[in-house]
Amino acid sequence: MSTPSLLILPGDGIGPEVMVEVRKVIDWFGAKRDLKFEVSEDLVGGAAYDAHGAPLHDETMAKAQEVDAVLLGAVGGPKYDDLDFSVKPERGLLRLRKDMDLYANLRPAQCFDALADFSSLKKDVVAGLDIMIVRELTSGVYFGEPRGIFEEGNERVGINTQRYTESEIERVARSAFELAMRRNRKVCSMEKANVMESGILWREVTTRVSSDYPNVELSHMYADNGAMQLVRAPKQFDVILTDNLFGDILSDCAAMLTGSLGMLPSASLGAPMANGRPKALYEPVHGSAPDITGQGKANPIACILSFAMALRYSFDAGEDAARLEGAVNAVLADGIRTADLLGEEGVSPVSTSEMGDAVITALDATI
Ligand code: NAI
Ligand code: MG
Repeated sequence: MSTPSLLILPGDGIGPEVMVEVRKVIDWFGAKRDLKFEVSEDLVGGAAYDAHGAPLHDETMAKAQEVDAVLLGAVGGPKYDDLDFSVKPERGLLRLRKDMDLYANLRPAQCFDALADFSSLKKDVVAGLDIMIVRELTSGVYFGEPRGIFEEGNERVGINTQRYTESEIERVARSAFELAMRRNRKVCSMEKANVMESGILWREVTTRVSSDYPNVELSHMYADNGAMQLVRAPKQFDVILTDNLFGDILSDCAAMLTGSLGMLPSASLGAPMANGRPKALYEPVHGSAPDITGQGKANPIACILSFAMALRYSFDAGEDAARLEGAVNAVLADGIRTADLLGEEGVSPVSTSEMGDAVITALDATI
């Protein structure tokens, strides 16, 4: 088998800073576990705009289509706020998602024991929490036509359209059921079938897909109730399946159950490639954090855990993914904290690179 390929796109702000730490982890797996990757690096977002006048160069896009997985840092920042919408850094990320057709966005919300006190919810509500939100990513109201701001009579009207085809719902539902098979075999699908036709169709199609997965229990919930349940009793869920807009909101809500934005990884998966693995983009949930850029304060764990997801979903290395997650857990259990994770009295924060080094030390302890 040829060496698996990985395209790294550090991006803007703290993206390059956290990616330095991920490179240490990648090198560790190459040296100590003989897990070698053909790693290439390129520009995205504002960094690409500065170099090429576009937030994603066509050549970078072509490379992303060829590799086994893409790992991205973050894009955007105040420097680019006044750019035209068509060349904004975020457009680079949107193009990657759209052109690679990454329709299933996976966002785990997992509570590391050492951080259970850090949640805004009571410890027993979140301790041991391990849920996965599967958000449809390439369709729905963010893409539906017609859209725009139009003149209507003597005022303007802003229009967006929620639009889902059966096949769009079916493929993301399959992703959710496949995941549930490897987890606790429960899928809760969230929409607003009470007031939206797209929700009625969503419910119909997910129910139909579920007949192919008799060992997975499917339930349906209105998304507003889902939001309540997520903060009331999140451990009732295993996999939550939802559309683009509700998923955007619900996954941010679920994220905060477990503490800091600096801890949260994500994966965006598309259709299987020739080798059977899905097209895939891995990235931390957080943005470019301009308020702490260049200060050595960024928590690299979200990006490190995104690489763990890549090990699991793109490189068939689930055991090594668990090894990496275990190392992160051990570091946190030791009380090592970047500034965003500070809560306890008398703990002083470590820097971005110290956190990366601590993860490497914990990895060393696993062999
Ligand atoms: P943000 O996620 O960059 O920051 C929100 C807050 O969380 C900030 O106080 C930041 O310091 C903190 N934070 C985020 N990641 C952290 C980490 N790893 N360690 C420690 N603290 C961390 O969101 P914000 O401020 O709304 O957006 C900043 C820029 O990032 C904007 O240009 C926005 O468009 C872009 N953005 C990009 C995303 C992406 O590339 N996927 C996602 C979200 C925002
Ligand atoms: Mg969001």
